[in-house]
Amino acid sequence: MCGIVAYIGRKQAIPVLLEGLKRLEYRGYDSAGVGVMDGGLKVARAVGRVRVLEEKIDETGGLPGTLGIAHTRWATHGGVTEANAHPHRDDRGKGHGIAVIHNGIIENYAVLKKYLEENGHTFTSETDTEVLAHLIGELYRGDLEKAVQAALREVTGAYAIAVICEKEPDTLVVARKGSPLMVGVGNGEYVVASDSSAIVAHTTQAFTLADYTVAKLTRESFRTSTIDDVEITPEVRELEFELAELDLGNFDHYMLKEIHEQPRALRMCLQGRIDVRGGEIVLGGIAQHARTLANTKRIVLVGQGTALHACMVGRYLMEDMAKIAAEADFASEFRYRNPIVDFGTTIIAVSQSGETADTLAALQEAKQRGALVLGIVNAVGSSIARETDAGIYLRVGPEIGVASTKAFTGQVMTAAMLALFIGRRRYLSQEYVGKMLGELAAIPDKIQRVVDASDTIRSIVAKHVERENWLFLGRGINYPVALEGALKLKEISYIHAEGMPAAEMKHGPIALIDSGMPAVFIATRNSQYEKVLSNIAEVRSRGGHIIAVATEGDGHIGTVAQDVIYVPDAPEQLQPMVNVVPLQVLAYHAAVMRGKDVDKPRNLAKSVTVE
Ligand code: M6R
Repeated sequence: MCGIVAYIGRKQAIPVLLEGLKRLEYRGYDSAGVGVMDGGLKVARAVGRVRVLEEKIDETGGLPGTLGIAHTRWATHGGVTEANAHPHRDDRGKGHGIAVIHNGIIENYAVLKKYLEENGHTFTSETDTEVLAHLIGELYRGDLEKAVQAALREVTGAYAIAVICEKEPDTLVVARKGSPLMVGVGNGEYVVASDSSAIVAHTTQAFTLADYTVAKLTRESFRTSTIDDVEITPEVRELEFELAELDLGNFDHYMLKEIHEQPRALRMCLQGRIDVRGGEIVLGGIAQHARTLANTKRIVLVGQGTALHACMVGRYLMEDMAKIAAEADFASEFRYRNPIVDFGTTIIAVSQSGETADTLAALQEAKQRGALVLGIVNAVGSSIARETDAGIYLRVGPEIGVASTKAFTGQVMTAAMLALFIGRRRYLSQEYVGKMLGELAAIPDKIQRVVDASDTIRSIVAKHVERENWLFLGRGINYPVALEGALKLKEISYIHAEGMPAAEMKHGPIALIDSGMPAVFIATRNSQYEKVLSNIAEVRSRGGHIIAVATEGDGHIGTVAQDVIYVPDAPEQLQPMVNVVPLQVLAYHAAVMRGKDVDKPRNLAKSVTVE
């Protein structure tokens, strides 16, 4: 989704802003723009990549100035045009030289626009953001901070904004509600951004703006207040990751880097949390809720996309190991279903970014209804992490590739630890938990073996890469793995792929099978192995081409599948973490072979901050 960078300090703003926008490119966007203050306000905007904007700025001879705002736009209100790109300005004739960048949606923009038009404002774009620029201009009485506060008291919806004004050339005002925004605190300078990846090159000290909060930044100091002007003191903290973690290293794409990082990332996820000998799990973030969790009647895991697939695996784990009734649901559907949630229910919100608007809204709804709400989140200090009652961080490091990989395995690993943590407090023996923890600790090495077999997977993909329709089939705990395999393939290679329970095929979808259609079966040896073999036979006898993900040493599978990807054996509950990896690798190679931009797939945003 939209990315925001803003700078005030003593350096030239443009290099800081463009470098920041490049760091935020992974979030997804379709146009970009900057506004810089230098005597007056100068704006440049362009459709397409940040480098197009950069070229445009170069052609004009550069934009000098030490105060500026910059934006990457992911279109919602209004098409992908230069006129709709940010920054947006207040009415030039009557205006004050105000420029605004915005991430989020102003829901009552139509009413506000009508009011402003009746008061003589003319609009040049179709965006909701331009309304905000005019509204701030309309309310400006010589104090930008106050005008922003007043405007935000009138709007409903979500926003992270940065605002500059020609009449106050040494002031940057930023604010947020519902969309992410972080302020990096440097020496005589501030770098504001949608996430820390655009800040760490300049400072490791930062604070996250709370909802309904405004920050006024000058080169000398800052002041934070609510939109009602009650002064507040934010908590400045140390950013936890290094700039080096954001670099590609020797990899061609972030997705590939992150696939390869999984063994190390999962070791980090486990570090200090499991005591194999003692059969105990230490989860400091949720320790104070241990008793409530042990007595909880029902667990509902909510997320979107890949995170939802992790929720679905988590559901099996909660039922199987914690022995608690569990469900997994799209956060977006749960939120608007009038769900039955009470004090006996625990909601677990799963999210890599911690900013997914649907997931945030779902947990807020559940909290209002009295549930205990936990988070399984990667991004430290993110909105979901802050809004939940307690939680567990993934600790898998920043995920930049739009296609989520290490976050998925980290989410499943964390859900497994949580299920064992709860189960141990209910009925699981120390011996059983100790054994399972030993198996958890062995998963990173098993994933490493799959990653090392990438060439075999690539040669299988090469045979089928021209096919436009694929199926991914699995049963039980491998059904979500099939869904995840299909999602990975479609989101980065644009191949149509469907994931479904293998048994569901004969209830309709089997009609899709035609000669040579690739059908990827998750067929590792587990309690449903024989049934999966039957499903394979059904598809093969109708001409489907079977690609099986199977257990090393399975001598039979090669007689029923035309292609086999062997993976190490693990306990059934933990096998999804191993089984998903060849599907990530498969999708990656398919996208590369089809010449797609793996890390920036069309239409997609890394972090979806609108509902
Ligand atoms: O940041 P989140 O985990 O909340 O994101 C949820 C989904 O948008 C995300 O998993 C998405 O489906 C991935 N791009 C899939 O690879």
